[in-house]
Amino acid sequence: MRNFFMNKHILVTGGAGFIGSHVTDLLIQRGYRVTVFDNESTGRRADVNPNATFVHGDVRDETALEAVFKTGIDAVIHIAGQASIRLSFMHPEADLNVNTLGTINILKQCIAHKVGRLLFASSMTIYGTPQIAPTPETAYPAPVSYYGVTKYAAERYAHITATRKDLDFDFHVTSFRMFNVYGERQSLTNAYQGVFAIFMGNVLRGEPINIHSDGEQSRDFVHVSDVARAWVDAIDNPQTYGEVINIGTGRPISVNRLCDMVLEAFGYSRETYIVNHHPAQPGDIRVSSADITKARTLLGWQPTIAFEDGMKETINWAKKVMQKA
Ligand SMILES: NC(=O)c1ccc[n+]([C@@H]2O[C@H](COP(=O)([O-])OP(=O)(O)OC[C@H]3O[C@@H](n4cnc5c(N)ncnc54)[C@H](O)[C@@H]3O)[C@@H](O)[C@H]2O)c1
Repeated sequence: MRNFFMNKHILVTGGAGFIGSHVTDLLIQRGYRVTVFDNESTGRRADVNPNATFVHGDVRDETALEAVFKTGIDAVIHIAGQASIRLSFMHPEADLNVNTLGTINILKQCIAHKVGRLLFASSMTIYGTPQIAPTPETAYPAPVSYYGVTKYAAERYAHITATRKDLDFDFHVTSFRMFNVYGERQSLTNAYQGVFAIFMGNVLRGEPINIHSDGEQSRDFVHVSDVARAWVDAIDNPQTYGEVINIGTGRPISVNRLCDMVLEAFGYSRETYIVNHHPAQPGDIRVSSADITKARTLLGWQPTIAFEDGMKETINWAKKVMQKA
């Protein structure tokens, strides 16, 4: 039986970015019609699937959003966002405007055009320093970065909107609290987001690797193809309606270990490569590991790519990108 959303028109905000472009590819592969809305601030039009319609626009611009919603949207995958913890401290107003007010703009359009389905890109940063690891969705949210606050606020705006009794249509929201997503198309030159891609870019350019704090802070790396599958599988799965769902692996890897793995994959070690330590940065998280029981139960989802394999595959891709550059 074909599902209800098949052949439907999906709006992917941020679809020129790392995660959004992979979600778009999978949607197209599964037969959806896709419009990508992206301001190309960090995303690249070249990464947008040629079978998707591309609209250059900003989620802060209500007129531009209105025009795209008028084309008839069945579901929104809202991935556009300012994705850097560091930049949230450097430019707090921009972070708030894009992540929180941008999401409010999307919600207003969903209401105005009675779009009944929204999936939102939330983040593990909302947990801050979790009391429990692996961390379940029920953990107390206590973000320690401005970014974590703006993401959490946006997530709450979305879910509270879905419970509004004054709406005259069914509005179903799902949020994914993604952990550290990695894989092909993650920027190798953006020093502000994606620790694995930053380290890869450093080694490919022969630059020292910079570790903040003692390096024993952990991250939970999940491959972008596994992440994209969770998003697309959730679109028409009623069990995910109203839910926030962790997407990670539950396998924490320390930043020191990550550094050693990357160096080894390039044929180096700490004896042969410069690794500098710096003080911790604002908003740094010490422990990060996802409890993914809910994703398994509601979505039948689980990660399929071990970090050791995904890392090698991503490094091979990065080497090719650098050769072409
Ligand atoms: N990468 C991760 O590990 C991770 C983890 C948790 C949450 N997230 C969230 O997932 C989303 C995607 O992250 P990513 O890693 O793919 O980053 P990315 O920077 O590659 O993607 C963000 C996309 O949004 C677009 N964008 C930014 N501001 C915009 C605006 N004002 N209007 C329209 N488009 C805009 C960018 O051009 C880009 O294409 C972000 O919202 C991020 O906060 C990412």
